[in-house]
Amino acid sequence: MIDMYRNVKVIIHGGAGSALQDRGGLEAVRQDLHRMVDQIYQRAQAGAKAMDCVVYGCQLLEDAPRFNAGYGSVLQSDGQVRMSAALMDGQAQRLSGVINVSRVAHPIDLAAHLQSSDDRVLSDVGSMELARELGLPLFDPITDLRLREWMQERANHFQRSMAGVVAEAADPHARRGTIGVVVRDENGHLAVGTSTGGKGLERIGRVSDSAMPAGTYANGHAAVSCTGIGEDIIDECLAARLVIRISDGMAPEVALAKSFAEATANQRDFGAIGLTQGGDILWGKTSDVLLAAYHTGTTLGDTLDQPQGTQTGRISA
Ligand code: GLY
Repeated sequence: MIDMYRNVKVIIHGGAGSALQDRGGLEAVRQDLHRMVDQIYQRAQAGAKAMDCVVYGCQLLEDAPRFNAGYGSVLQSDGQVRMSAALMDGQAQRLSGVINVSRVAHPIDLAAHLQSSDDRVLSDVGSMELARELGLPLFDPITDLRLREWMQERANHFQRSMAGVVAEAADPHARRGTIGVVVRDENGHLAVGTSTGGKGLERIGRVSDSAMPAGTYANGHAAVSCTGIGEDIIDECLAARLVIRISDGMAPEVALAKSFAEATANQRDFGAIGLTQGGDILWGKTSDVLLAAYHTGTTLGDTLDQPQGTQTGRISA
């Protein structure tokens, strides 16, 4: 018999935003997400701790150029990539992260290193100094596609306020979106990680939600990672809001419904994924699409075919 408190669960996301126009593009995203959620699940199933599985999962997604984190991050207004990432250990209730780091392949590795540090969230200069101290090789995360997109915006005199957070499939290579991973390991411990290249085209110094409790939060009861417009996520304090509602005894589906109804009333544009200690898989969105996939312990599923607009889901343990 499956012990529901020991059954491994995984949910990941690769962004939220406007609808994908092309079915082929959607299927390519689905294949990527399913492959990666299964790789993370297999690692957790082999006995790895939730924190290690989350770091591993974030690395996989940071390496995938179709997602807006690590390699393939969108460029800021000045044509540079600055990435942010956070990691939170639910059992220890401890968050660490980096804000606006450049020239590293895996911002999540810096967040992981900072878990045992006295100073646990570092901004640009400090993050890059840490990368140097750790001897991380210099890495250029700018892809040709991202550079071309930025050059096009430049030619158009930067009419748009940000890059699209989810790709339009007119360009089959263009896929964008913050990434996130939530795992409950075989000991029932929760962990969450989020990594992003930001909104794209933002002002220098703009701070993403991803390395704040608004975008990444966990305790012993629940863990949540958010994606979408960072300012909207910060204004709702979405990840912490969901986790604390569940910790205070609100049923997970009620916490989701209430939080996303409030967000809809406030015209927010975002999505979130999460897990509870009891093994419920959670997701919600106000945006057209949420690119999320999950492993229940027996089956793989995703949110890619959900109708546009506000939707929430709970797959019970
Ligand atoms: N959610 C990612 C960002 O807005 O930076």
